[in-house]
Amino acid sequence: MSGFRELGDVVHFRMFTRDLVLLAHPDAVRRVLQDNVGNYDKQTRGFQVLRAYLRQGLLTSEGDHWLRQRRIAQPGFHRTRIAGFGQTMTRAAGELVDRWLDVPAPDLVNVTTEMMRLTLRIVGETLLSTDVSREADRVGQALNVTLQRANEVIGQVVPRPEWWPTPANRQLRAAMRTLDDVILEIIAGRRAGDSDPDDLLSMLMQARDEETGQGMSDPQLRDEVMTIFLAGHETTAIALGWTWYLLSQHKTVRERLHAEIDSVLDGRTPSVADLPGLGYVERVIKESMRLFPPAWIISRRAIEEDVIGGYRVPAGSIVLLSPYVTHRHPGFWENPEDFDPDRFDMNRQGERPAFAFFPFGGGPRQCIGNSFAMMELVLVVATIAQRCQLDRLPGGPVGTAPSITLRAATPITMRVGPRAPSPA
Ligand code: HEM
Repeated sequence: MSGFRELGDVVHFRMFTRDLVLLAHPDAVRRVLQDNVGNYDKQTRGFQVLRAYLRQGLLTSEGDHWLRQRRIAQPGFHRTRIAGFGQTMTRAAGELVDRWLDVPAPDLVNVTTEMMRLTLRIVGETLLSTDVSREADRVGQALNVTLQRANEVIGQVVPRPEWWPTPANRQLRAAMRTLDDVILEIIAGRRAGDSDPDDLLSMLMQARDEETGQGMSDPQLRDEVMTIFLAGHETTAIALGWTWYLLSQHKTVRERLHAEIDSVLDGRTPSVADLPGLGYVERVIKESMRLFPPAWIISRRAIEEDVIGGYRVPAGSIVLLSPYVTHRHPGFWENPEDFDPDRFDMNRQGERPAFAFFPFGGGPRQCIGNSFAMMELVLVVATIAQRCQLDRLPGGPVGTAPSITLRAATPITMRVGPRAPSPA
């Protein structure tokens, strides 16, 4: 990744028979994701791998099918519709803190795993109204197998076919079958009128295409549920892990964050109504996603030849956009390696073009869960930081291990202890 940064705004190389073009300039990102979006599709290796798991879900489908599904699902992800999930988020984070603090001495925790379990619980409860994060839960286990396998396959230079009867492939097939069975079972139960909870699945089942009046079929619902499970929990967990890490390295920022939380909440559990007051928490999270964007690379295939910033992008080439690289572009960010949440102050928004910061992608394929994710991140950070402090054990900086997402190269282990509110 650092090589890419040192080479300039366009890096072009050939891998086997394919042209790969890496574009770092925000205007180039805008062209691919928004202005000339029709010329770029998702026929890339990364998406082919994901398609095997997520089939025709929103992240991996294309064309008319995608457009129709997006139109149906979009209203359900609107800020006002998802506000009701705030309580689920703070309850889950609060119970995690209870567990952490329910020991006589400050304890060591693996923040990476703890955040993964927390966001899995939140997505499970908001999507299906069930807690899939428990050790014995078969959905949680099957999801972990699937996610781990997808990451492994993406990392293989020469992919090994998945029909090979290796133990790993057999385990994957069993995991996928479990997920299919459980999700379809829940859908069937809802159709039979067993229950009608106020969750994302109900929303997807009730939603209708405004133009045709049609809803989603069971296989479509299954694909969207799988997609939301996978797209919605690992990314958020990774953002939280890096945020705790950065806060432990930057004490002044952490003190300001604590002061805001204490003055806004005055000891209350945060709620959606507090979000406008938690502006510094939000800026910390954005700055964390600037330095460590969970979705660090976005790939597309150029259908026809294109010219971007005077540079010829051949038809058929793979175009790579990297929030990691653009977010550290020295042309748009002063001291790009520094952790400085005030960059995201409202009054400083005009300092850079919109696509200099795109942790959720952009254009028509922008993350449908971005409001959900921001709400979850702010509420979880506020709930946890209100009651405890996470300190990293002495050691060198944590490196990155880029896969589908930008994981930490080593587990982030931290000492957790109770925190007294800062003086008014
Ligand atoms: C910090 C958390 C998250 C990050 C960084 C993130 C990032 C992204 C990015 C970059 C894309 C665009 C991919 C592309 O253009 O190829 C995307 C798409 C998507 N994300 Fe997220 N995401 C996050 C959380 C979520 C959540 C919480 C959900 C669901 C509840 C979600 C569901 C989706 C879906 C369904 C798509 C595909 C949208 C479409 O193409 O129509 N994401 N996400």
